[in-house]
Amino acid sequence: MDAKLWDGRFTESTHQLVEKFTSSISVDQRLFDYDIQGSTAHCKMLARVKVITLKEAETLINGLAEIRTELEQGQFKFEDRLEDIHMHIEARLFQKLGPVALKLHTARSRNDQVALDVRLYLRAETRIILELLLQWRKVLIKIAQDQINTILPGYTHLQRAQPILLSHHVLAYFEMFSRDSRRFEDALEGINVMPLGSAALAGTTYPIDRHFTAQLLNFKDVSDNSIDAVSDRDFLIEFLSAASICMMHFSRLSEELILWASSEFNFITLPDAFATGSSIMPQKKNPDIPELVRGKTGRVYGHLLSLLTMMKSLPLAYNRDMQEDKHAMFDSVDTLKACLEIYTAMLPTISFNKEKMGCAATTGFLNATDMADYLASKGMPFRKAHACAGQAVAYALKQGKELDELELKQLKEFSSLFENDIYKCMEPETTIARRQSYGGTSSVTVLAAIQKAKGAVNWTD
Ligand code: ARG
Repeated sequence: MDAKLWDGRFTESTHQLVEKFTSSISVDQRLFDYDIQGSTAHCKMLARVKVITLKEAETLINGLAEIRTELEQGQFKFEDRLEDIHMHIEARLFQKLGPVALKLHTARSRNDQVALDVRLYLRAETRIILELLLQWRKVLIKIAQDQINTILPGYTHLQRAQPILLSHHVLAYFEMFSRDSRRFEDALEGINVMPLGSAALAGTTYPIDRHFTAQLLNFKDVSDNSIDAVSDRDFLIEFLSAASICMMHFSRLSEELILWASSEFNFITLPDAFATGSSIMPQKKNPDIPELVRGKTGRVYGHLLSLLTMMKSLPLAYNRDMQEDKHAMFDSVDTLKACLEIYTAMLPTISFNKEKMGCAATTGFLNATDMADYLASKGMPFRKAHACAGQAVAYALKQGKELDELELKQLKEFSSLFENDIYKCMEPETTIARRQSYGGTSSVTVLAAIQKAKGAVNWTD
């Protein structure tokens, strides 16, 4: 079958440059296993509705299995002339089986075939990503559990704000990645729809049974509109949105780890196994892993944008533009999986500098809100209490002192409501322990949050 699949209509052979330009085999060869799964199910269905004989189906299916082995073993020769993985497999089938191979493409087109392959691939990968996310979320819970006594400053505007538990901070990431997990579950719903049998765009004249094909391939649904089925990539865009948001979370975490590893913060120490040195500065130990994750985030965002832009203005139904979807898809999947894997391995090896974090939580007037709350609890309206504590901060600043370093008699200058018990109220441990509002940072509420998180990941001790 040296001739092209469409040679019937053409009088001139394709220009070499065109073959090279239109070929996607270097990218879509990764779909071979899914293409063979899809074709195998298609053969079984064609035999069931008697469009081909059982014997023919068996011959085709065996031939496809042999081709799968050839592809797995890397013996397969790819040529631009054959454009994509679908045509390569079909052409090889013809080489092996002769004319019976020409029946494989009955009642389908490459338009529905490629939509099927992409959905099969993405369904498998989304399930792997969900499993990786689960393991990663368990790592976060474990750290939250281990660090229940570690205090650090919480920040707003990257300025020290109020003391918090490190566990609470880590669980904030647990929340983000749990939402990611929910988004991927949701994307899976959109992916898990069977498009084969839509043919080029209008359906087919053959008496096919699309629900049977869907059953064979474990699809939850069958696409309802043949035009939409071949021109829809929403499910991929939904996947890329979920991937982009997940990468955004990794990027925020990365940024914090990079800051925390700097000598300015010195909150964490990265293990040598997960850091790299400099080729010129012997003293350097660089946080390259979080930096790369932060950088790769841009790549995944780019893929989302490229897909949205590629689909924008496409008239119905299939257009060749859509062939460009695969690079974005493969690279996003690879990137996200790599980030999940490296973070799951790296985070447990980071040592948290408890002393340094705790110390940072005692300076910078992080207890000023608690001073205001103290006055308010003694009857002063909060706005007034806020102003009063503010004056105390200004005074302490001038003295080069912290609030808890001011004497009671100095405090009484600002309000007669101050008594000795104010000092206890200003300790970071107290400020944390008293924040027991639901979702707050006290150890009581955080321990409850850890229990809830464990329930969400089916934790077994
Ligand atoms: N390689 C093509 C793609 O990935 C397969 C579909 C080709 N269809 C067509 N009518 N040329 O989109």
